[in-house]
Amino acid sequence: MPSLAIVGSQWGDEGKGKIIDYLAGKADMIVRGQGGSNAGHTVVSGGKKYALHLIPSGILNRDSVNIIGNGVAFDPQGFFAELEALARDGAPMGAIFVSDRAHIVFPYHKTLDALYEKERGGEDIGTTLKGIGPCYMDKIERSGLRVCDMLDIDDFRGKLEAQIDRKNRVIERLFGEEPLDKRDITETCVEYARRIRPYVRDTAVMVYEAAKAGKKILFEGAQGALLDIDLGTYPYVTSSHPTSGGFTTGAGVGPGLVSEVLGVTKAYTTRVGKGPFVTELENEIGDKIREIGQEYGATTGRPRRCGWFDGVVARYSARVNNVTGIALTLLDVLGSFDTIEICLRYELNGEKLEHFPARLGDLAACRPVYKTLKGWNADISRVRTWEDLPEETKEYILAVEDAAGVPVKIVSVGPGREQTIVREEVF
Ligand code: IMP
Repeated sequence: MPSLAIVGSQWGDEGKGKIIDYLAGKADMIVRGQGGSNAGHTVVSGGKKYALHLIPSGILNRDSVNIIGNGVAFDPQGFFAELEALARDGAPMGAIFVSDRAHIVFPYHKTLDALYEKERGGEDIGTTLKGIGPCYMDKIERSGLRVCDMLDIDDFRGKLEAQIDRKNRVIERLFGEEPLDKRDITETCVEYARRIRPYVRDTAVMVYEAAKAGKKILFEGAQGALLDIDLGTYPYVTSSHPTSGGFTTGAGVGPGLVSEVLGVTKAYTTRVGKGPFVTELENEIGDKIREIGQEYGATTGRPRRCGWFDGVVARYSARVNNVTGIALTLLDVLGSFDTIEICLRYELNGEKLEHFPARLGDLAACRPVYKTLKGWNADISRVRTWEDLPEETKEYILAVEDAAGVPVKIVSVGPGREQTIVREEVF
C-alpha cells in the first residue's frame, strides 16, 4: 500500500496523533496539507508526552521526512517554538521541510481572530485564536504572504509593512482598537525569514518524486471532517479542508496518490467550540467520559463536550472522505459503563433522516435514535489482540462498523504505541 491518508472522522481530537505516530514508523514521508497551529496532537513516545501543533506527528521518527505542505497556514513563531521544545527535550527527530507556497500566519492574524470572535458576541465560533481564519481569509482574498516571500528579505519587509498598515486600518477604524506595533512585528518576522531558509522547499515536487519512487507516504490530517469549511457544521468549522480531498490539494499532488483512507474515530464523540451536537451528554455520563478520557483541549485547555458514538456522523464522514478503514480510538475510556449507547440514525420532526443535514437548525432539532449495548466493565488497556478483548467490547466494535459502514481495522486501547490492536494491516 504506497500511501495512506489519516483523517479525523468527527470534530477533531480523535487521537490522530497516536495513530499517525504508530503508523509513521512505516512511512518514508509524512505530509500535512491543511490547518496550522490550531491542531493539537499529543504523542507519547519513549514514555514522554509531546504536544505538537504545526509539526507533523511523524517528526519523532528519526528516519522520517516531514512536510508542511502548501495548504497549511504556516505560523513561523509556532514552528520554531515547537522545534526548540523538541530539541530541549532531546526528542528523536526526523527531517522537516515547509512548502514555499504555504501562507504565513502573522501576529495580526491572531489579533484579528480575537477581534472577530469578540465582535460575534454570543454567536462566536470558539476558535483556537491561532489566526487560522484570518490567514485563510487573506489567502482567498489574494492578499496573503507566502513562505516564498520570505526568501527575499527586503521585498518581504516591504510587503509585510504594507500588510501591517492595512490591518492596522481595520483594527483602528473597524474595531476602534490601538494599532499594532509595525516595527516590532516586522523585525520579529524578518528574523523568522532569516531562519526559515534551510527548511523551505518546493515540497510538492518532493511528495511527487517520493511517490514515483514507490516511497510510502502518509498524509496527516488535522481537525476532523465535521470541521471542514465546505462539509462541516458551518459556520462552526475551521477554515480549511480537513478531509482527504483537502490533503492532496494541500500537498500539491493529485487525489490518485491516496490509496487508503483511515478514518480515526473516537469510541464516543467530543467537540470543542460551539455548534449543534446531537449525541451530546450534558449530564453525569458526559462528565464521566470527560474525566476518564481527559477530554480537555490540547491547544486551548478547554473542556471538551462529550457524547455517545454518532453513527450518522461516522457514515457521513466515511462517504465524504472515501474512508476505507476505521481506527477506533479511546475504547478503553468506555470500560466502566453498564450500558453504552450508539446512535444509529436521527429523527427530525418524526421523520427518519438518512443523511447529515446542512441546516444547523435542523441538526439542533434532530433526535438521536440509539441502540443500547451491554458495557464490558473491564480495563482493556493491556489487551493486545482481538481474541483477548471481552465479548461485549467486540460486539461494540462490530456495532460501530455496522453504523459507519466501514471495517474497523485498528483499535486503540491507550495512548502508548504498544496499546494498539491491528485487525488488518493498512500501511
Ligand atoms: P479555528 O480553526 O481556530 O478557526 O477554530 C474553528 C473551530 O474549529 C473551533 O470550534 C475550534 O475549536 C475547532 N478546532 C480547530 N482546531 C481543532 C482541533 O485540532 N481539534 C478540535 N477542534 C478544533
